[in-house]
Amino acid sequence: MKSVHFDRPGLPEVLFIKNSKIPIIKDTEILINVKFAGVNRPDIIQREGNYPAPNGHSPILGLEVSGIVSKVGAKVKDFKKGDEVAALVNGGGYAEYCAADQLTTFKLPKNISLKEAAGIPECFFTVWSNLIMNGKLKKNKKVLVHGGTSGIGIAAIQILKTFNAEIFTTVGSNKKKQFCKNLGVQHVFNYKEQDFFEEIKKINKSNLDMILDFVGGEYVKKNINLLATEGKLINIGFQNGSIVDLNLIKVMLKRLIITGSTLRIRNIKFKAKILKSLKKFIFPHFENGTIKCYIDSVHKIENVVSAHQRLQEGTHIGKVILEL
Ligand SMILES: NC(=O)c1ccc[n+]([C@@H]2O[C@H](COP(=O)([O-])OP(=O)(O)OC[C@H]3O[C@@H](n4cnc5c(N)ncnc54)[C@H](OP(=O)(O)O)[C@@H]3O)[C@@H](O)[C@H]2O)c1
Repeated sequence: MKSVHFDRPGLPEVLFIKNSKIPIIKDTEILINVKFAGVNRPDIIQREGNYPAPNGHSPILGLEVSGIVSKVGAKVKDFKKGDEVAALVNGGGYAEYCAADQLTTFKLPKNISLKEAAGIPECFFTVWSNLIMNGKLKKNKKVLVHGGTSGIGIAAIQILKTFNAEIFTTVGSNKKKQFCKNLGVQHVFNYKEQDFFEEIKKINKSNLDMILDFVGGEYVKKNINLLATEGKLINIGFQNGSIVDLNLIKVMLKRLIITGSTLRIRNIKFKAKILKSLKKFIFPHFENGTIKCYIDSVHKIENVVSAHQRLQEGTHIGKVILEL
């Protein structure tokens, strides 16, 4: 089968297509004939050599796919050959065939195409598990999400809207600012022109209940200062660095919770629990069109280098998708 590989870490140009063996599935797995695969920032970090596949996971890039069931394992109950599905996978998505556990695979919600479905798993599983399961978000809270037009940011904003949150976000251009306003975000800051910390302080006297951040670096101190008593800071990445100079007294005085997680290393049982909740609380919104998978661009697998360049240059809004 056609699949994407790299022999050494580096720039997008290290990626190339080669033939490899079709994965052999376990009894509980499904073999998906991949039609589309989502491209995520963790794929870039892996390509750069900083996020190796955990033991037992495919070394091929790609954490989410959509396609047609080609084969099912002996213990697979709810899927059959020919079903249209999407899945969160343990790597291997940038390939014509990918193995997926039955517990992290789902039939497409009504009104969602295969192209859109490929952009759902990684971001929606990550955001749901962090904000709702770990953060225990309640309705009507004030929440800041950094990077509002990233795959993660757009998923977070849409999930937060279902909790009637007052949403704050940061973006890197005025085009992105307008996109977030159209999405229904009340407070959007172009971090290249405004200091989000000063702006939020001005408009918000009672401070924030929760912050979802993947920027880190100089944002950590500002985040801690913006949180209300018993507020929660959830870090799912540190694009600007994870080593910071910090006075932690505010954590003690405000009884803050600082937490975070990485989805990839969690076991199938935990991921299955996330999917169960998403099906119950979020899939109905996909079906009635109140939540969407916003796609920035679709790239043929032969152009995987341009797909990675597009994500890495950072001007995209929404998901970058590979077409097999
Ligand atoms: N822990 C986990 O389980 C997990 C899972 C998935 C993803 N993640 C992390 O979540 C992040 C987003 O992933 P993604 O796939 O959605 O990536 P993405 O679409 O490429 O988003 C990255 C975004 O970061 C924004 N950004 C860069 N510097 C910023 C700054 N100083 N302030 C605010 N925004 C800034 C960029 O927007 P601008 O152009 O506007 O700067 C860009 O939209 C990544 O760091 C990724 O590693 C973690």
